[in-house]
Order: sequence, then structure tokens, then C-alpha cells
Amino acid sequence: MLNKPDQLLEEARKLLAQAASEADIEAVRIRFLGKKGELTAILRSMGSLGHEERKELGKRANRVRDEVESLIAEAKSKAATLLRAARFSAERLDVTEPGTPVSLGNLHPITQTIDEICRIFANMGYSVTEGPEVETVFNNFDALNAAPNHPSRDLTDTFYITEDTLLRTQTSPVQVRTLRGAKPPIKVISPGRCFRADSPDATHSPMFHQVEGLLVDEGVTMADLKGTLDTFAKRMFGERVVTKFRPHFFPFTEPSAEMDMSCFVCGGEGCRVCKGGGWIEILGCGMVHPNVLRVGGADAERYTGFAFGMGVERIAMLKHGIEDIRLFYENDTRFIGQFG
Ligand code: DAH
Repeated sequence: MLNKPDQLLEEARKLLAQAASEADIEAVRIRFLGKKGELTAILRSMGSLGHEERKELGKRANRVRDEVESLIAEAKSKAATLLRAARFSAERLDVTEPGTPVSLGNLHPITQTIDEICRIFANMGYSVTEGPEVETVFNNFDALNAAPNHPSRDLTDTFYITEDTLLRTQTSPVQVRTLRGAKPPIKVISPGRCFRADSPDATHSPMFHQVEGLLVDEGVTMADLKGTLDTFAKRMFGERVVTKFRPHFFPFTEPSAEMDMSCFVCGGEGCRVCKGGGWIEILGCGMVHPNVLRVGGADAERYTGFAFGMGVERIAMLKHGIEDIRLFYENDTRFIGQFG
């Protein structure tokens, strides 16, 4: 009987060494220290023993109880540590692992080119305005001083909606709308879509983009036009480029010109981009025709102005070395993604 507590201690030690979980440990506690536990039973049964024996057994049983208690505490803390370690490895998160890539997309190169052109002019104090793509024949041709027999009016060149309305062939009608809607000084830039009945090929598309510019004020001269557009060319293509103005004809400007710039790739030596000529045609421009000022309601005696128009696709193609305009409209992300 006196050895019983130590036997129980050994047994408890063995069981605790094997206990794998909190529940196993708890079972050991109940088995030895619970109300109906084996050690508890010994302590309870001591009443029937003699004094000396009871004293000795009590001492041993109490020591064993303390020891089993501390073994249990130890086992519990070991089990908790193991459990935590298991969770750590099961829930391990490799924060250095590359994530799932998110495709962000980018602005279309035409949009980017329009933004860049507008930014350059905005920095020179121009505001941006837009006109409708469906325009009146009057605004697109008559108000712009186009003769009744002007070839671009032809059905084979222009998409008519009705006899009086069409898909604008140029952004120039925005000049008329702007003049009608505001008093000089006027300083606007207007990007947008234009339409012409052209068959698509490497340099033509029935839908394309232009940016129009209009400045009207007192005392505006051709020198202002040249300075402004030369500044634009340098900001768009680099400080190295120089510009020249070739006489041309547009019905809505007088005089009219086309602006060429020295090739920004070869500097004028002649290369593939400038097709050997050293110069690249960039835009049309001129001094606003008094007839246009009058139609727009501006005093043509008091005010003068200049206007210009440029093809966005052409500028984007030059800048990026793109050889086929149709690439812009195919929406192939392998192409568009190169401009991210
Ligand atoms: N609208 C002309 C075109 O489509 C471009 C142009 C030329 C616009 C001269 C202008 C200008 O404002 O002054 O070819």
C-alpha cells in the first residue's frame, strides 16, 4: 500500500510521456487526480489505517500528487508549444512569393498623343474644347469658306447623313462654333475624330483624329503663328528640330501654309523616316480668313487670328515609328500594350 503512490506516479509519467494532445493529458489528470481518481482514492481510503502508516502514506501520496500536477503542467505547456509549432508550419505564409499579376492596361497611343499635344498647348495658355462628330454641312464647309464646288464636298469623299448633315471631315468646324460662342481673345485647341470616305490602307483610314487650334485677338500676325507652331514642334519632337513654312491653300485661311520640320531622327540628313528628304510635313495652318471671322460673328476689321490643324495618327506614327495606321484600330493588346 505504501508503494502505491509511487507506482501511480510512474504510470502517470509513462502516460504523460505518450500523451499527444491536451485531451490525452486531461484524461491522465482525471484518471489520477480527479474526484474518482486513483490517487484521490488512496487519500480517501486512509481513514482505515493506523496512525504511522496513515502519516507515511499521506506524505507520499501528497508528494506524488504535487509531482503529477507538475508533470501535467509541464506536459500541457509542451503540448501547447507543439501545437503552436504545428500551426505555424501549417499556416506559413511566404510573403516573398510573387503575387498574381494584375493587368493594368494603358492609354491608347492615339489618346496619349492627343494628351501630349493638348498639354503642350495648355502650357501656352490654350483651353481645350470639343465639337460634335456629326456636323452641319454649313459648319464643315460653307462657314469655312469652301467653294460650292470644293472637291471634298463630293459624296465619294464625305459621309453624308442627310443633305445638311455629315460626319465632319475635319476639326475645323470647331473654329466656327468657338467664334460664335465667345468673344475674342480666343485661344483654343480642339481634338477629335474626323471621317472621310477613304479606303483603308497603310496611311488612310475612314476614321482618324485631328487637333485643331484657333487663336483670335487684336493684332495677331503670322509671326505669332510661326513662333507658336515652332515652339510646339520643338516640345513635341525635341529642341533640335527647325521648322519651315511652305505656302499652301486652305479655303478658311489666307495666307495658308504647311509647316515642315527638320527630321527629328536624322536631323535633316535624310533617312527612312523623312524618306530621304530631311523634312517632315507636320500640319496645315494659316491666318483665319476674314470670311470665317464674319460668319463666326467676330469683327474682321478689329481682329485677326491664326488657325492650324494636324493629324494625330500621323504624328503618333512618326514619333513611334509605326508604319501602318490600321494598327491603331485593331485593338490588339500586343500592339497597344507597347505604349504602357
Ligand atoms: N482642316 C485641314 C485639313 O483637314 C487642316 C487645317 C489646315 C486646319 C489649315 C487649319 C488650318 O486650321 O489653318 O486638312
